[in-house]
Amino acid sequence: MCGIVAYLGEQEASPVVLKGLKRLEYRGYDSAGVALIYQNNLAIYKKKGKVSDLESYLQNQNIKGSIGMGHTRWATHGEPNDINAHPHFSSDHRLALIHNGIIENYATIKQELILKGHQFLGQTDSEVLIHFIEQIQKENECSLFEAVRIALNEVVGAYAIVIMSADDPNQLLAARKSSPLVIGIGKDKKEFWLASDATPIIEYTNEVVYLDDNQIAVLQQGKLEIKDISNQPSTPYIQYLDLTLDAIEKGGFDSFMLKEIFEQPESVLNCLRGRLIADQQHLQLGGINKYLDKLLNAKRIIILGCGTSWHAGLVAEYLLEELARIPVEVEYASEFRYRNPILDAEDAVIAISQSGETADTLAAIDLAKSKGATIFGVCNVVGSSIARATHEGAYTHAGPEIGVASTKAFTAQVTVLLMIALMIAKKRQNIPAVQFSELLYELESIPQKIANTLKVNDEIEKIAHIYQKASNMIYLGRGYNFPVALEGALKLKEISYIHAEGYPAAEMKHGPIALIDEEMPVVFIAIKDSSYEKIVSNIQEVKARRGRVIAIVNEGDNLIPTIADHIIEIPATYDVLTPLLTVIPLQLLAYHIAVLRGCNVDQPRNLAKSVTVE
Ligand code: G6P
Repeated sequence: MCGIVAYLGEQEASPVVLKGLKRLEYRGYDSAGVALIYQNNLAIYKKKGKVSDLESYLQNQNIKGSIGMGHTRWATHGEPNDINAHPHFSSDHRLALIHNGIIENYATIKQELILKGHQFLGQTDSEVLIHFIEQIQKENECSLFEAVRIALNEVVGAYAIVIMSADDPNQLLAARKSSPLVIGIGKDKKEFWLASDATPIIEYTNEVVYLDDNQIAVLQQGKLEIKDISNQPSTPYIQYLDLTLDAIEKGGFDSFMLKEIFEQPESVLNCLRGRLIADQQHLQLGGINKYLDKLLNAKRIIILGCGTSWHAGLVAEYLLEELARIPVEVEYASEFRYRNPILDAEDAVIAISQSGETADTLAAIDLAKSKGATIFGVCNVVGSSIARATHEGAYTHAGPEIGVASTKAFTAQVTVLLMIALMIAKKRQNIPAVQFSELLYELESIPQKIANTLKVNDEIEKIAHIYQKASNMIYLGRGYNFPVALEGALKLKEISYIHAEGYPAAEMKHGPIALIDEEMPVVFIAIKDSSYEKIVSNIQEVKARRGRVIAIVNEGDNLIPTIADHIIEIPATYDVLTPLLTVIPLQLLAYHIAVLRGCNVDQPRNLAKSVTVE
């Protein structure tokens, strides 16, 4: 949450910063602002609203500077308005700061600063931090680096910050703890970019350094220095990005979300690439190697995640227990981290995260590590904090996911988790060779089956027209498709703001059935799996109460079409693979309903893609 970007070099900074902010807008869109230094003067422009509002505002200003930074905000402290927008500045207007994270002890620091004469314009913790740094520099008569270093030793919380000083107009200072920050390095270090993720950087350079926790970077033309907050220098470790510009643009689609839904045949294929070759009975995840024994011999597997990643974890619980025969618990990372969980070195933990930056998941990993468990990561963003915090892991290789509502990340997560389950099953000899082989072949055909499933798009758009004004919806599924029902309901509420609930179909009788009347659309995942007959009964129960039924069925089903109001036909596959297909129509249904309701599907209200605060 919150996107930060900065530039130092030979170009005009403002276009680079504004373009970067647009790329990072998925991280928050409550307000946006930029700061530039020109001829030793610091200028700050900020506006409530989206980056486009800031851009219109800047058109009437004469903005200049070859050093600049910008921020797009997801509000935590203080309402979204012009004053609380970043960048924030010091009392003397010589220092400016952008911040992603939360300074937890800001209230105490603020009180002390007020006693020393500081006045605050807004309510943010970030404004307090820049005043704090200013005060330390004044009291200690020290360099800005030293003041930042002392301040960061005092603050509690999470931050990725960039600071500029009008007195040092050729320098950017950056630091991080628990919030992401990437440094892009231009040719001969004549240019530098800083950003919350690599998307604002890739069109300029593929050389990056990921700052580690408690590190401070000093960037000047021709020079990059990194020290930690106890003043120990460290050599920057340069990595090379493997991202293309196409991957982060809309490519002819109306929205990133639709593009990402339609990318799934390819993203799942990329996820399988090199890992699965059915003809050779080859299944290997290169990233899970050194600690594989810990997974094979785990007494229990604990899966951690939030949001959609948690739903992928629930699918994995069914997969791992069925195939690998290891007991699994799936935990919301936010709950796990605060409840003194019982675990030890015999437990394996799988942490799932698209962004690899979710604060609760990171904290839960730290806790599990402290208890001796081995942690495996399933992340999409390469080099992200979670990917680095885990012992080992497997990337999902879904490519950048920019729409706030997660789609292709989910199918890629389920694919990786399925491969892990199959790998364990094989090595522990829990699966007959024939079944293993059949599943490998079927998994190999899944990208094509996803492409066939996407053909239901037009049909779903028609159904969306009928239900666009619904106030509530229920999603029901059983077994592997119960978590998919949860995910379908989450998609709808996130982007269309219709209240939706997912339930195991059999649980309907224990409450939700009371809600059914002719106004209530009920989405059933009713494919021909082992619970088909039972789902048919559940559909009958809804119809008996005049509910409206939208059923996801397998091609050729000739029973449910006689009962349901609408059917959506998808290809058949083995039970364990069904979530990879059944989720697709649910993503499309949420998408079309949201578009018809005039909602911004890529940037739904109040949400952010990467939740780096707890
Ligand atoms: C936010 C996003 C969701 C995502 C969740 C977990 O709420 O809006 O789409 O599922 O965070 O994020 P992660 O990056 O850890 O998968």
